[in-house]
Amino acid sequence: MNIIQKVSLKNYRCHKEFSLDCNRSTTLIIGENGSGKTSVLEAIYLALRGKSFRAVDSDILRTDEEFYRAEVDLIDAQKIIIRYDGKTGKKSFEIDGKKTARLPKKNRYPVVLFEPNNIYLIESSPSRRRDYFDELFRQINANYSVTLSRYNKALKQRNDLLKLETVSKDDLFSWDILCAQYGAELKRIRASVLEKINQRMTDNYREIAKNEDSCEIKYTGDVVDENTYIRELAKSFEKDRILGYTTYGAHRDDYRFYFNNKDADGSASRGEMRSIILALKFIEAGILEEETGKQPVVLLDDIFSELDDMRQKHLVSNFRNYQMIITSTNIPANMTANMNL
Ligand SMILES: Nc1ncnc2c1ncn2[C@@H]1O[C@H](COP(=O)(O)OP(=O)(O)OP(=O)(O)O)[C@@H](O)[C@H]1O
Ligand SMILES: [Mg+2]
Repeated sequence: MNIIQKVSLKNYRCHKEFSLDCNRSTTLIIGENGSGKTSVLEAIYLALRGKSFRAVDSDILRTDEEFYRAEVDLIDAQKIIIRYDGKTGKKSFEIDGKKTARLPKKNRYPVVLFEPNNIYLIESSPSRRRDYFDELFRQINANYSVTLSRYNKALKQRNDLLKLETVSKDDLFSWDILCAQYGAELKRIRASVLEKINQRMTDNYREIAKNEDSCEIKYTGDVVDENTYIRELAKSFEKDRILGYTTYGAHRDDYRFYFNNKDADGSASRGEMRSIILALKFIEAGILEEETGKQPVVLLDDIFSELDDMRQKHLVSNFRNYQMIITSTNIPANMTANMNL
């Protein structure tokens, strides 16, 4: 299905004027390094999700220009126009003539984004992995975002108190209750989405690699009820007081990638890591579609490097039911470019 019909940019990064008509299924943007390929995907993401995946507006605004404008026309004749004024620092979204400062939730559209640095997810820090999965859960579960920000607020209050020398267990109790309420909910959502992902992980990996390897993402968090959560917080009180922060809870969860039952960090090859992440992307697309009832737009940035021809082919054919916008520095076999930058 085709969701995006057209993208038009003005003063958006290196693009003074740019316009692209998108295909129903695959749109391929070819260009040298620095020609502005990722910038096009960034603008699409901005229109569909309400924020950039890599920068702030002042970075996006073309050097020495006063404003940028990005327009994305959707299939149902809906138009999203984003304007940013460099002088005032203000940005607005206009949807079918109606202006807002932020993209309303009801106008956000599911996106699966592959960025080249996603492959470092496997070997990067737990906090980067948490950020990655938080963003995924936000798209999948309508309550996740609110619960996460409430949890973070309660956690911050608890941590602030822990920095006081005179802090007692009782001082923390009301924050413990809130941390437990929101933290237990986050853990439930995380574990249930991870379970769904894992049910499909190996099959999806084999779709790309066509071999017998297996993979899995292990959620390191414990799924507990609120009372157990409160008890765990109480148990770690002495440690937390000495350290000055909360050592137990949802903010410490991690997601470890396993390849053939071994930690993929340190065992999987680069191409294998890339394939694992791409398998995850297929699964994200499927789950997003089931949960939101909308077919996500698939944005694949610089997807083909490090992948052999066979994997490149399987990749494109696996996503063929989705509208896909792909960037690459060279044209892969069996494909034709829609845009040469
Ligand atoms: N605000 C800006 N004003 C002008 N040029 C910019 C601005 N921000 C970034 N650029 C330049 O725009 C160019 C396009 O960047 P982009 O990341 O889209 O390129 P790309 O085609 O994806 O390159 P690569 O193949 O290396 O990933 C770069 O040369 C970058 O330095
Ligand atoms: Mg790029």
